[in-house]
Amino acid sequence: MDIYHAPDTLRIRPSILYFGTPVVLITTRNLDGSTNITPMSSAWALANRVTIGLAGGGQGLANLLRERECVLNLADESMREAVERLAPTSGRDPVPAWKQGHRHEADKFALAGWHALPSLQVNAPRIAEAPLQLEARVLDATEHPLEAWRDNAGGYVTLELAVCEVHAHADIVVPGTSHIDPRRYRPLFYVFRHYYGVGPALGRTFKAEV
Ligand SMILES: Cc1cc2nc3c(=O)[nH]c(=O)nc-3n(C[C@H](O)[C@H](O)[C@H](O)COP(=O)(O)O)c2cc1C
Repeated sequence: MDIYHAPDTLRIRPSILYFGTPVVLITTRNLDGSTNITPMSSAWALANRVTIGLAGGGQGLANLLRERECVLNLADESMREAVERLAPTSGRDPVPAWKQGHRHEADKFALAGWHALPSLQVNAPRIAEAPLQLEARVLDATEHPLEAWRDNAGGYVTLELAVCEVHAHADIVVPGTSHIDPRRYRPLFYVFRHYYGVGPALGRTFKAEV
């Protein structure tokens, strides 16, 4: 009879639990009509709903709560360097004291070197370079107080969004369909504060459409 040896495990207390989610660039409209870009990765989708989590005190969050709409631009591997140029910045002026290491940046499109495209149903523009651009409206927002193990002095907010329009680069769409071709879509992932691309394909689910 085979004896199973379970892998050794350790009890640990990590400061963050970013176990690997795609990098989303949220475009929102500032009060003066200009655009902010918030890089983030705490996002998941179910049907046409996307739930996101944002730390309190950021400009993107303030814009979302005021304007109730945004574009979720999915970053691909080629956008990594530009994403990291945006990483130490905030559209908030002045930057909250607890966001140490961040500086204010008013023009994140210029800093990233990306181009803005008008959206169809929301006021915030899309990022032309992003292979998937999801126009969305805020359905619900829930504030969560500071948790003891977080270093974020402002707590965080989860928002449920309804996607109302989807734009995809033509080269990741299966011709003549609305299906994304996962062989061509190269999302950028955020894994325990490191960037990763997708590895080789490992197989399909019984529900795969292409
Ligand atoms: C790859 C990446 C992923 C991030 N994920 C999140 C996230 O999921 N939630 C969040 O609140 N901040 C996240 N951040 C941090 C925000 O981008 C950061 O707080 C930024 O200053 C917000 O900009 P804003 O104040 O202009 O909205 C992430 C940053 C990077 C670079």
